[in-house]
Amino acid sequence: MLHKLACARSDPYRNHTCDAARPHRLRESISRMRTLWLMMLAGVARALLAPVAKRPRLTRAFAAAGDPREVLEKAVASALGAAFGPEYNDPSKAALRPATKKAFGDFQCNAAMAIAKPLKKNPREVATELVERLEADDTVQNTLATPLEVAGPGFVNMRLSDDYLSSTVEAMATEENCGLPKASQKQTIVVDYSSPNIAKEMHVGHLRSTIIGDALANCLELRGHDVIRQNHVGDWGTQFGMLLEHLGDNTDASISDLVAFYKEAKQRFDSDGDFKERARERVVSLQKGDESTLEAWRKLCDVSRVEFDAIYDRLSVSGLEEKGESFYNDRLANVVAELEKTGVAETSDGALVVFDEKDTKKEKVPLIIRKSDGGFLYATTDLAAVDYRSKELKANRVLYVTDAGQSGHFKAVFQAAQRSQELGDMSLEHVPFGISGINLIKATNPLPATSFLSVPMTF
Ligand code: ARG
Repeated sequence: MLHKLACARSDPYRNHTCDAARPHRLRESISRMRTLWLMMLAGVARALLAPVAKRPRLTRAFAAAGDPREVLEKAVASALGAAFGPEYNDPSKAALRPATKKAFGDFQCNAAMAIAKPLKKNPREVATELVERLEADDTVQNTLATPLEVAGPGFVNMRLSDDYLSSTVEAMATEENCGLPKASQKQTIVVDYSSPNIAKEMHVGHLRSTIIGDALANCLELRGHDVIRQNHVGDWGTQFGMLLEHLGDNTDASISDLVAFYKEAKQRFDSDGDFKERARERVVSLQKGDESTLEAWRKLCDVSRVEFDAIYDRLSVSGLEEKGESFYNDRLANVVAELEKTGVAETSDGALVVFDEKDTKKEKVPLIIRKSDGGFLYATTDLAAVDYRSKELKANRVLYVTDAGQSGHFKAVFQAAQRSQELGDMSLEHVPFGISGINLIKATNPLPATSFLSVPMTF
C-alpha cells in the first residue's frame, strides 16, 4: 500500500507540465526570466553578504560600501545615542544578529530588549523610537528596504534592499574575477542542473534550474573550483515504452511536435490494454539494449535535444554536459545489490525499499529503489549517480538544483547514499528554489516575484 502511495505521489514535478513551455509561451517565459536573472544575482549577492562564518573575504565593491553589518551597527549605535544618550552610541549595543528566519529579512536588531530595562521603558517603544531614527538616516536608506519592521517583543527586522544588492552586483561585475576571491582550497564540484525530460516540454521549473544552476556554476568557477556541469536529463524509464511503441506503429508520425506525440501515446496507453502490454515489453527491450529499440530511442532523444539546445543558446548557457538517466543504467543493479548487502535496503511488499533511519517503526513511505516487478526508479538512478560522482569523478561536492518539491526525494537519497556507500567527505546538497505561498497553477502570473533560492549557499 505504502508503495502504491509512493508511486502515485512520486515525482509530481516530473509529471507537471506547464503550457508556458509551448514555443510562443516559452519566449514570453524567457523574457520574464530576465527578472529572475536579476533576482538570482541578488540572491548570490545576498549569500555572499550573509553573515555566516564561512563568508568569503569581502570584495572591493563591498569594501568600498562597507560591510553592511558594520555599517548598520554604526547606524544603530548612533541612532541609540541620539535617542537615549551618548552612552548608547556603541556598536556593541546594536546587538545586530543574522535573522533567525529568512522571512524576517537578513539581520535582526535586538538592542531594544537589552536597553529597555535600564531605560525603564517598554522594549517595543524603544524599538519604535529606534526605527524612526534609523529610517531618517541616509546610510540606512541606501542599504535597507524600508519601512523597517518592529516584530515580537521589540526586534527590528532588517532586509538589504534590492537597490543595494543590485548596485553591489553591478560594481562587482566590473571587478576582476567579478570581485570573487579565489577559494583557499580548490574542489571538484558537480552542479546538476536544468535536467529536462526527453519527449516532454521543458517547463518553467527547468528554466529556473537552468538559470540558477548556471549562475552557481559560474560563481564557483570564478572561485577557482573545477566545476562539472551535468545535465541529468530524464531519458530513461517506463514512459519510453509507450513512446517507442507509438513511434513503431506510426513510422511516419510527426515527432517534431513532441508534446502532441507524448499526449497521443499516453492516451493510447491509458485506453488500450493491448498497447499497454506492448509498451511494457518495449521497456524490457530497451533495457536489454535491443538495437532497433535503441535506434528509435536515440531518434526521440535527438528531437528533444534540438529543442533544448535552442533554449540553451538563447540563455547563453554552455558547457552543460549531458549525463542523462540512461548513462547510469549499467550501474543500477550493482548499487542496489550494495544497498541490500549493507542492510540499508530491505524487502517490503515485494519491493526493495529504504526506510528513513529515524522511522524505526517503518510507518512512513520509504524510498523505493526496486519495484516488485524488478524495475528501477528515479531514486535508483540518483543513487547510481552519487556512486559515479564519488568514485569516478572524485567530486568533493554535488549540488542538485531543482524545485523545492523534490526536497523529500533528495533527503531520502542522500541519507541512503550516506548510509551505504563510502562517500568519503563528498557533500551532497540540494539547492531548492520555490514559490512561496502562491499556487503556480492558479497564479495569473506564472512567475511570481517571490521566487527565491530558499537556502543560503556557501561559495
Ligand atoms: N529530470 C528531473 C525532473 O524533471 C530533474 C532531475 C534533477 N536531477 C537529479 N539528479 N535528480 O524532475
